[in-house]
Amino acid sequence: MHTRVERAETGVLLAAEYLRAGELVAFPTETVYGLGADARRDDAVRKIFAAKGRPSGNPLIVHVADPADARPAAGLTAHWPLVAEKLAKRFWPGPLTLIVPRGPGLSALVSGGRHTVALRCPGHPVADALLRTFGGPLAAPSANRSGFTSPTTAAHVRAELEGRVPLILDGGACQIGLESTVIDISENVPTVLRPGAITVEMLREAIGGVQLGMTTVRLDESAASPGLHSRHYAPRTTAYRFTRAQWPLAQQYAAARKPVGLLSISEVVYLAAPHETMRMPADETAYARALYGALREADECGLNAILVLMPEERGGMWMAIQDRLTRATEPMPG
Ligand code: TXA
Ligand code: MG
Repeated sequence: MHTRVERAETGVLLAAEYLRAGELVAFPTETVYGLGADARRDDAVRKIFAAKGRPSGNPLIVHVADPADARPAAGLTAHWPLVAEKLAKRFWPGPLTLIVPRGPGLSALVSGGRHTVALRCPGHPVADALLRTFGGPLAAPSANRSGFTSPTTAAHVRAELEGRVPLILDGGACQIGLESTVIDISENVPTVLRPGAITVEMLREAIGGVQLGMTTVRLDESAASPGLHSRHYAPRTTAYRFTRAQWPLAQQYAAARKPVGLLSISEVVYLAAPHETMRMPADETAYARALYGALREADECGLNAILVLMPEERGGMWMAIQDRLTRATEPMPG
């Protein structure tokens, strides 16, 4: 399959045609690039799983143009809890995904066998234009091969999915750079399944009690149950995380396995050539925006490993950064 890349400003009409024909289109959102298909059609949604190499039990996020399109009347949900209304009012369009009881209007494949559906109204002009021009809900996971780093530019999408997607809309670099916050409000206590730019603090402020439901299973424990392990959002090169206190250990490792890459907040720690030091910003939003691009760059340098200094800051978006870093890496050996 030939992969066409079109500038977003001029490619939206064509993209909507592809989607109407049941084809896939990769498009920018404010978080990461998505791989979209008509969420009402089994044949179209099946192509997403095939292109990504994604296990069919892993459900997809359904994107809508307008918060009103999420309610039961639109056939996407069976029930629209009051807390969904509150969160949608406050944070949509934006980087928040709500898990609610599924309605009859969607392909069952988007839910991966669950009785719920994940919904998001993205806050990006190209995603918005595409959803409106297409005129229906779009299932869209991140536009990467399953398990690897999410793309934050059209070039990243191409590197992941060349020959597997017929059309990529190029809308430049994503502003946020990490995937949306996912909150499950289908049960009694709202539960954050994936932290993101809409922080736990912001959610608590809006609706009160919110619990954390992230489970980070250690890699070695999960060998017996593929699909459940925590390694995700990962570069191809083996990546190890270490804390500031483990810096001597990291230096030792680097000396033995030359050359390695080092991902560190500017000036905190540094490795001289032949190693590659990627200097990350100290500001949380800038760090988030730069993270996936930095991991990809490090991946292209022919390094023996990537060593990641875990930021020690707490709260705000650092939670999402730490979550993705933990999933992208293994603990430093030794
Ligand atoms: O920022 C984002 O959310 C991006 C852009 C493209 O919108 N999309 C994205 O999709 O990150 P994906 O498929 O890579 O991640 C969706 C996450 C997965 O961890 C999936 O397991 C979870 O949401 N999810 C989706 N539907 C769910 C459901 N019904 N119940 C529980 N988890 C669900
Ligand atoms: Mg993903």
